[in-house]
Amino acid sequence: MTGDIESEASYDRRRLHQWRAGLARAEGVGRRDMLRLLAAAGVVSAVPVALPAPAARAAEHAGPTGEGIVKPLPPELFTVHGTNAETRFEALAGTGFTTPISHFFVRNHTTTPRIDAAAWELRVRGDGLTGGARRFGLADLKRLPPVTRTAFVECAGNARNYFKTQQDRPASGTPWGTGAIGTARWRGARLSDVLRLAGLSPRAVDVMPRGLDDEYVTSDGTNYGRVRRPLPVSKALDDVLLAYEMNGVPLPPDHGFPVRLLVPSWVGIASIKWLGDIEVSTTPLYSPWNTDSYRLFGDAYPPGGSAPLTRQTLKSAFELPWNARLSAHTRHRLTGRAWSGAGAVTRVEVSTDGGTSWRPARLRDPGRPGSWTRWSIPWTPREPGPAALLSRATDSTGRTQPETTVHNTQGYLFDAVLRHAVTVEA
Ligand code: MTE
Repeated sequence: MTGDIESEASYDRRRLHQWRAGLARAEGVGRRDMLRLLAAAGVVSAVPVALPAPAARAAEHAGPTGEGIVKPLPPELFTVHGTNAETRFEALAGTGFTTPISHFFVRNHTTTPRIDAAAWELRVRGDGLTGGARRFGLADLKRLPPVTRTAFVECAGNARNYFKTQQDRPASGTPWGTGAIGTARWRGARLSDVLRLAGLSPRAVDVMPRGLDDEYVTSDGTNYGRVRRPLPVSKALDDVLLAYEMNGVPLPPDHGFPVRLLVPSWVGIASIKWLGDIEVSTTPLYSPWNTDSYRLFGDAYPPGGSAPLTRQTLKSAFELPWNARLSAHTRHRLTGRAWSGAGAVTRVEVSTDGGTSWRPARLRDPGRPGSWTRWSIPWTPREPGPAALLSRATDSTGRTQPETTVHNTQGYLFDAVLRHAVTVEA
């Protein structure tokens, strides 16, 4: 059920029914927000639909200059947005399949905490365990069968800024270009192994991983508490890792040291960093990160938003600076990457004439779900002047990037074909 939007929506409706019956918990989520969700899901019809949809107040808050990020953020590799750092997509050219840690984007709600691995423990607790709470040290996790998996982590708001620049309708939140994504080789223990060792009850329905970073306080002063977002048990038991290594080294501080969750193919918020505890529950759980944010809100959606976001969408991008200057009558090798949360990338086409004609790009990696594919194509421009380069990916579900993305107020899951502006010089 995990990847299927339809069943995710009915799962959501079932949870909401349970909340109304007093059988689900929603700590840190306002009653009005829950009523709005109920109304939107058609669970109750008597609730006035005028309850405001949450606007900008959720996740993305901006401080001045990459504050709280430990690693260096040289301007040739990163664009800094408040507490976040976006990878310059052009800086990925020539970096190989996995993203070096030095280049990997950082998305922090607050600041990177410094955690002592020797004293660190993961606490697994809740009424979804058959015994009491259990604690696991780093050495305990490393004794479990290790799993290595190459996967991207991508922010749900990646490419959000194109709602404004390409569709003339801005969305709230960090104005990411395409660089809120990175692919790494993650190594760790299976979450399913840990849950089973902890005594997972057959009645458990949700797990709620929570980070050890500071509580998140929005610009209007609302304290959302520690970053946390529930996962259905079905996904938790499927392919989720408790990762302690990234690209062959211990997780760096900014990426979740000593242990983070890796939830393959899902929106980045699911992959909780600096994991401190996991609640296992027999009742559905809510947090601000699956109610106020990380759903789709807007004209095209119910007042309470869509079901909580799960899988990432489909995208492709050129490894070129915006407004790159390319000389005419020279053969250029255009390179890029394409990825999908729904399956493997099977085709990438490129247009150098603004979308009139398309040529297939050469795929340089076998498409694998949850990971990206590098591609390349030669281009010899003739006419000097401004030009738009377009790339269009298709994935193994048969889906191709559309021309536009239906607007949502928080700017998630932008998947439209990008018109990459360049200048051809005589
Ligand atoms: N986990 C905690 N504890 N705190 C956070 O701020 N940000 C989330 C997720 N996990 C976050 C977190 C978001 S929105 C994203 S996109 C990814 O981490 C980013 O992972 P990265 O910084 O390693 O690239």
